[in-house]
Amino acid sequence: MADLSVNFCGVKFKNPILAASAEPTLNLNMMRKCIEAGAGGVVAKSISSIYGMRKLSKYSTWRYLNEKHEVARGKVPRMFTLYGRAGASLVPPKEWMKMLKEVKVIADANGAVVIGSGMGPTIPDWVEQAKMFEDIGIPIMECNFGCPHPYAMDLPAKMGMEIGQDMELSSAIIEAISSAVKIPVLAKCTQQIPDMVDMAKAMKVNGAAGVTISNRFVGFVVDVENGKPLISGWSGVGGPWVKPLTLRWISKVHVAMNEFQISGSNGPYDWKDIAEFMMSGATTVQVCSVIMLKGIAYITEMVAGLNSFLDRKKWSARDIIGMAAKQALTYDQMYDLGRSRSTIDEEKCTMCGNCLESCFYDAIGTDGEKVWVNDNCVGCGICYSVCPSDAVDMSELKPFVDPEK
Ligand SMILES: Cc1cc2nc3c(=O)[nH]c(=O)nc-3n(C[C@H](O)[C@H](O)[C@H](O)COP(=O)(O)O)c2cc1C
Repeated sequence: MADLSVNFCGVKFKNPILAASAEPTLNLNMMRKCIEAGAGGVVAKSISSIYGMRKLSKYSTWRYLNEKHEVARGKVPRMFTLYGRAGASLVPPKEWMKMLKEVKVIADANGAVVIGSGMGPTIPDWVEQAKMFEDIGIPIMECNFGCPHPYAMDLPAKMGMEIGQDMELSSAIIEAISSAVKIPVLAKCTQQIPDMVDMAKAMKVNGAAGVTISNRFVGFVVDVENGKPLISGWSGVGGPWVKPLTLRWISKVHVAMNEFQISGSNGPYDWKDIAEFMMSGATTVQVCSVIMLKGIAYITEMVAGLNSFLDRKKWSARDIIGMAAKQALTYDQMYDLGRSRSTIDEEKCTMCGNCLESCFYDAIGTDGEKVWVNDNCVGCGICYSVCPSDAVDMSELKPFVDPEK
């Protein structure tokens, strides 16, 4: 059994896999299921005093889409898109706290952590939410600065990603909350900003213990047969294909801010993705769309998969945090690694012509009987990817000598 425990924002988690703030944490029963499935913690559904945000959850609309961005029916592919809308918790904040207290008892009994999540219309409202969480013993608060829906809503104040896109306002909220309560505060960001590193630095300066990278994007999907927007208009969009975009920012923030705590969200599908999020710099990883698809019990499989992997590698969960991010090179540093050049194995080549069509450097020639690589080859590797018969080898690395230098 590997050591899966992590220390996140000063709180010990038995494992890094958390149920994200969303429908799988919408009420006591859902959160109990996540905890009993073995989650290290649950980020409870965001609360809001704004009725419009709660109303949206009473009108929640979702579709899993296939690779063509058509509605999937029954067979949902691995690279799905989850497209749709939901708002804040169904019940107002005060009522929510009574239930959350009970969730905390269940979590304590199972060694799991409950994180509170909020969305306020004004700074005093944000502070009031934080105090309510602290009063019932919730050890961390996450501020939802990433919800994509306020963008297309007529709300009385900036909410969700509208706050996350306003560095001054998000800084003021974090500053007010972290001065008013002792519990660590997380800013859950949107990627729809120019630079996540700037945002994370602003959050840290103003007292945040960490950032959650990130909430979902806003999208627009067209029902082409009817010439209409699918499910009537703009919606939140995400899925496992988003992962490289999310990991870009997690790794950038990790490298720029080393010890600043990051919770990863937006794109994990399985235990391998959890490991990738951690290797990019996340200490905890939140899961949502995949458990909405496969069921909450899938958390058990994710925890077990991560455990087997770490066990096989003789690593602890803490060992892998930032492991890959720290090794990322700049483009200039990459030139020093040398450059590969493709070679073609005549025995394996079937003369399909794929490599000829996909070489943009005039580096592959043919006489109709065989194919060869000439000195124009820059080692880009496209031929390696398109060859169906494993005839291209890229393993040889040669020093990169630039004739223009
Ligand atoms: C149905 C649904 C409801 C959500 N509700 C919230 C919410 O209340 N608060 C929040 O911070 N994020 C919310 N999110 C965003 C998720 O917490 C998560 O950040 C996002 O889905 C990306 O993670 P994933 O790729 O694992 O789905 C919601 C997402 C979905 C799909």
